[in-house]
Amino acid sequence: MGAPESQPQIRNYIPGQIVYIPNPELVPLYPTPLWPRPLFGFFIRLVTLVFVCWVTIKVIIPAALRVSIPWSRIDKDYDTHMVLPSDVKVNDCAGWETREEGWYNIIATTSLQLPVDSERLFFLRDGRVMDGSFTVVQGDSISDKIDVEVILTAKNDGLVDGTQVCFLSRETGGHGVGILAEYPRHWNNGVSVGIVVTLPQSPHGKLALKTFESHLPFIRQSLTLDDNVTFQKLDISGEFSTIAAEGIFADQVMLKTTNAAISGSIEASESLSISTTNAKISGKFTSPKSLDINTSNGPISGRFWSSDFISLSTENAHIDADVDLFHDGVSDEKVTTLKIRTTNGAIDGTINTTSLLPTGLGGSFNISAITTNGKNTLKFPTISPRANLSLTASTQAAAIAVELDEAYEGDFNVQTSRWEKVDVVVWRNPRVSDPEGRGRQRHVDLMRGGGGGGGERGAGRVWWGEGDGGKGKGKVDVRTSYGRATLVV
Ligand SMILES: *[C@@H]1O[C@H](CO)[C@@H](O)[C@H](O)[C@H]1NC(C)=O
Ligand SMILES: *[C@@H]1O[C@H](CO)[C@@H](O)[C@H](O)[C@H]1NC(C)=O
Ligand SMILES: *[C@@H]1O[C@H](CO)[C@@H](O)[C@H](O)[C@H]1NC(C)=O
Ligand SMILES: *[C@@H]1O[C@H](CO)[C@@H](O)[C@H](O)[C@H]1NC(C)=O
Ligand SMILES: *[C@@H]1O[C@H](CO)[C@@H](O)[C@H](O)[C@H]1NC(C)=O
Repeated sequence: MGAPESQPQIRNYIPGQIVYIPNPELVPLYPTPLWPRPLFGFFIRLVTLVFVCWVTIKVIIPAALRVSIPWSRIDKDYDTHMVLPSDVKVNDCAGWETREEGWYNIIATTSLQLPVDSERLFFLRDGRVMDGSFTVVQGDSISDKIDVEVILTAKNDGLVDGTQVCFLSRETGGHGVGILAEYPRHWNNGVSVGIVVTLPQSPHGKLALKTFESHLPFIRQSLTLDDNVTFQKLDISGEFSTIAAEGIFADQVMLKTTNAAISGSIEASESLSISTTNAKISGKFTSPKSLDINTSNGPISGRFWSSDFISLSTENAHIDADVDLFHDGVSDEKVTTLKIRTTNGAIDGTINTTSLLPTGLGGSFNISAITTNGKNTLKFPTISPRANLSLTASTQAAAIAVELDEAYEGDFNVQTSRWEKVDVVVWRNPRVSDPEGRGRQRHVDLMRGGGGGGGERGAGRVWWGEGDGGKGKGKVDVRTSYGRATLVV
């Protein structure tokens, strides 16, 4: 076997702190078994376990219980207040066009049309609580009208008569549809509504809509559009009801519900904001500007793309994210930012930082990934050479492992608490070659510092080339306590 083409040059080598990997494919990130450990470490683990159990009992289980819908209470709440905003006016109502008696139900239908060029299209419900579905699709025919079809399923004629489908308008303009239910209160009435909105084709390629809004608590909402519709502003909201939005292109997107999952594939040129509680958010989300994802007691998973700002935030659940960050490679004031936050859950991130300059060099990135009581694993398959990358990664009472692309240059600091181990892994990979193709060698300068409380710590600097000139701008800080800390440079 020949010598590797480019071995990293290592100064201040401290036995036990640097792990050479002759064959990186074969070596796991956590090389030593978790057992046996010193008794104190075991004790800390026990305390953590008790704490996690306590959180489960006091926080997660009650939260999960809240997810089951307290219909009687909700019905009462909604009985006393109307949800229609004060600037909304109710205009003509469409009567039920068909009414069929089924085995147990009456099925009534009606339909109406909205102008496709409206400044603001909106869908609301008011009065008694009902469940159901709201579906937006695009039809095949070219038209300047949007078809809205409403199907009501109810146990008796009184319930059908008590439910109206009306045109709405607002003081500031716009065209809306409202489902207004005014039958006597009794949730077991079992009224369910299905609303299907069919958008037309445009004669000029993509159909361009302005503002499109819905506020439909308790009604499942789904938009399935493949690439042929654009919105200026899409604002979909619910409560206790899921939202699925597939194939969406818009300037601004807001999806908001509570106690129910949100999923989708969305590209928003200006801003994309998704929030729920006690449920999962998943999908593929792109915004060159701001991308804000927020839930609690439910995981976040998916693929995220931005050249400005991404925030992924939850509690008591894991985050599993594939992230592509871009930067113009020039302005150091405008930093591309990624914030990943959770508690009591793992973070599993794959993050690329790419410069949009034709040379592929540079870029400013500020990345933080912070959790507690969960493993924090971050991989950076691609870091643009000469990037100004600032990374803060931490957890507590769990392992942390960060693997940087070899193009990374800059400072690093890795630390954990007493009796745990820090590994700074220098990736002695025979294939490591200068990312800028200038035949330079990779240098690692490792300095040991006394970590706080005598904890284990590894700190140093990594760069390509001779001398100090190319030491790079990056800053990587990796921390845990009561767990192993690993950094691969
Ligand atoms: C998209 O729009 C074009 C032009 O109007 C049309 O030919 C095509 O069928 C549409 N595609 C879909 C999936 O609706
Ligand atoms: C997420 O939403 C909660 C509740 O609305 C809010 O308190 C919190 O600040 C939000 N977090 C982020 C990071 O936006
Ligand atoms: C990151 O870059 C790698 C290639 O370097 C690519 O395979 C991967 O799809 C990119 N994106 C993510 C999120 O990993
Ligand atoms: C990165 O962002 C955090 C806030 O999330 C801020 O406190 C910190 O100063 C930023 N770091 C850099 C280098 O811009
Ligand atoms: C790196 O970016 C930070 C902002 O995140 C900035 O304060 C700092 O000056 C930049 N460093 C260099 C060397 O460009």
